[in-house]
Amino acid sequence: MSVIAVIGCGRIANNAHFPALAQIEGLRIKYACDLIESKAQEQKDKYPELIENVITDYKVALSDPEVEAVWVLTPNYEHYTISMAALKAGKHVFCEKPITINYEKSLEMAKEAEKQGKMLNIGVCNRHHKSVEMIKQWFEEGKFGNIYHVYCSFRSNRSIPGLGGAFTTKAQSGGGVLIDWGVHFLDLILYVLGVPSLKTVTCNTYNEMAKDMKSYKYEYMWAEDTADMENGTNDVDDFVTGFIRTSGASISFNGAWAQNIPDNEMFIDFLGDKGGARLSYGGKFKFFDGQTLQTIEPEYDIPGMYLKEDAAFLDSVKTGVKDKNYIDGVLETAKLLDALYESAEKQKELTF
Ligand SMILES: NC(=O)c1ccc[n+]([C@@H]2O[C@H](COP(=O)([O-])OP(=O)(O)OC[C@H]3O[C@@H](n4cnc5c(N)ncnc54)[C@H](O)[C@@H]3O)[C@@H](O)[C@H]2O)c1
Repeated sequence: MSVIAVIGCGRIANNAHFPALAQIEGLRIKYACDLIESKAQEQKDKYPELIENVITDYKVALSDPEVEAVWVLTPNYEHYTISMAALKAGKHVFCEKPITINYEKSLEMAKEAEKQGKMLNIGVCNRHHKSVEMIKQWFEEGKFGNIYHVYCSFRSNRSIPGLGGAFTTKAQSGGGVLIDWGVHFLDLILYVLGVPSLKTVTCNTYNEMAKDMKSYKYEYMWAEDTADMENGTNDVDDFVTGFIRTSGASISFNGAWAQNIPDNEMFIDFLGDKGGARLSYGGKFKFFDGQTLQTIEPEYDIPGMYLKEDAAFLDSVKTGVKDKNYIDGVLETAKLLDALYESAEKQKELTF
């Protein structure tokens, strides 16, 4: 029987991890923890058999010797604080994406996990998506030939999360659409391509759509409960564009949390000389080899991919064998995000 604690009972906990954890046998969630007690209590009410205690101070869980592993599902800056404390307390850690707000702190987390001999997996959940595994396998089998370029777009018409709250406060989030959505897309690309060496990056970030929060043309906002459009901060990117050279394919991308284009597009184009694929976010992909078009539509994979990443983490805890979401394999993504932000800030191309 594995004994765990879940720290942070917000959206990702409610929509993804609790439903996934509830499907795993041999698990006791000894603590559900949230600063806002009612959020943890809400989960206990949903899963009365599974969740044993509701707490507001995560240190209670860290000082309980029965707890083997913790899920850190809090805002980005607290990934570092809570994960470091948990590792030092001898716990294995599953931490949501992005690792934390920058590469330097991400590296410290990786070193601490190694020092303590504990698992530290990051919630880059799409690596566990069936379509992604298929595309990676087809690439390795040569179906794409040489993938020379990858383009991705993660653009939404109106989707700034929690405007004025933790998501739009750089000190707490590390950035805007690039670190929040771009992390998934760029991580997937590096993962599928077998993590080629990074050569150069150039990037521009923009904060245009809600620079005056009160006049933001609001239509839809997720994380609305954390928004503070009256007194909060919005100092992060709502649009980003960039170009990356690697030892393999080059990569270009555009991302928007908000834009005055009334469409949403979320896809990755893998351009190979023998075949190409457009992977739409959520799972469907088209593969064209110049003659035949195949449309692959694995069932929509939520909470499937969360279940897979949570189960894989627990397996790693049991067996000591690292999973693909172990922090070491995700550090390159954090390094890339840092470099992109630095390039935008310095307004020049950077070389690794
Ligand atoms: N993998 C994905 O696709 C995905 C999707 C959404 C969010 N996320 C990540 O999950 C994290 C949480 O996002 P969210 O949308 O659930 O945010 P959220 O604001 O809905 O939830 C965060 C919760 O953490 C709680 N919290 C904050 N500090 C705490 C502390 N010290 N102790 C206990 N609880 C604390 C807050 O009260 C809140 O309930 C973010 O890092 C985000 O990037 C990942």
